[in-house]
Amino acid sequence: MSVAEQSIAGAGDRSPGFMASSVGRKVVMALTGVVLWGFVTVHMLGNLTSYMGAEAMNHYAEFLHTMIHGMGIWVFRSVLLVAVLLHIWAALSLTLSNQAARPVGYREKQNQAATWSSRSMRWTGVILGIFIVFHLLHLTLGTVHPDFIKGNAYHNFVTGFQVPWVAAFYIVAQLCLGLHMWHGVWSFTQTLGWAHPRYNALRRNFATGLTVLVIGVNISYPIAVLTGIIH
Ligand code: HEM
Repeated sequence: MSVAEQSIAGAGDRSPGFMASSVGRKVVMALTGVVLWGFVTVHMLGNLTSYMGAEAMNHYAEFLHTMIHGMGIWVFRSVLLVAVLLHIWAALSLTLSNQAARPVGYREKQNQAATWSSRSMRWTGVILGIFIVFHLLHLTLGTVHPDFIKGNAYHNFVTGFQVPWVAAFYIVAQLCLGLHMWHGVWSFTQTLGWAHPRYNALRRNFATGLTVLVIGVNISYPIAVLTGIIH
């Protein structure tokens, strides 16, 4: 259902505020999803410096930490934190409202596809949450890293991925991110009202292209370290 259709369908609701309405929460989810998607893409591109060697990657990391007199990274961290929290809030509250609104005798079969994708969004979302906490402890704080050197992003990156189970966990997390992003782009284009037989192939190709690019490059990092291409 597009935003316009939902606005009409929801017109009889007990006028909740925009943020509390289901359309409002879907818009919050879509907008924060776009911010997070943008971050993941820029982050993936930035990490390409690892293929250029220690100097390039460490310069890039230093730039991130010193831009706008060291304030830039805090602005960027704050935006990211707010986006993640709003995204999780919108997802949880929409799930709870959907469950409460589900009529008794609901026929699972008719909605199998929709049920499967929203379920997969939930569990890939949970795995991503665990991944992000681990990732921050691993490559930003270094608490779960075997040989962390503050300010040496390249060394931390290489020695971090030389641990096979860590590399494997990153790869699994990226596959979950891929599923989450693919479905996210698909739903986002639906929220925009582009769900139409004429555009569905385009929507599917768009979602697949974006996801394969970001996830393919991200997965290449641990693989490149494990195979000695980056060392
Ligand atoms: C294989 C994929 C990835 C690699 C190789 C990677 C690499 C890195 C590295 C090296 C840093 C530390 C940079 C520094 O020293 O300042 C970092 C920080 C970070 N990464 Fe990743 N990352 C990956 C995937 C992701 C994903 C999928 C997310 C989010 C969904 C993410 C979120 C973050 C965040 C939030 C930070 C902290 C930035 C800050 O300092 O505030 N990363 N990543």
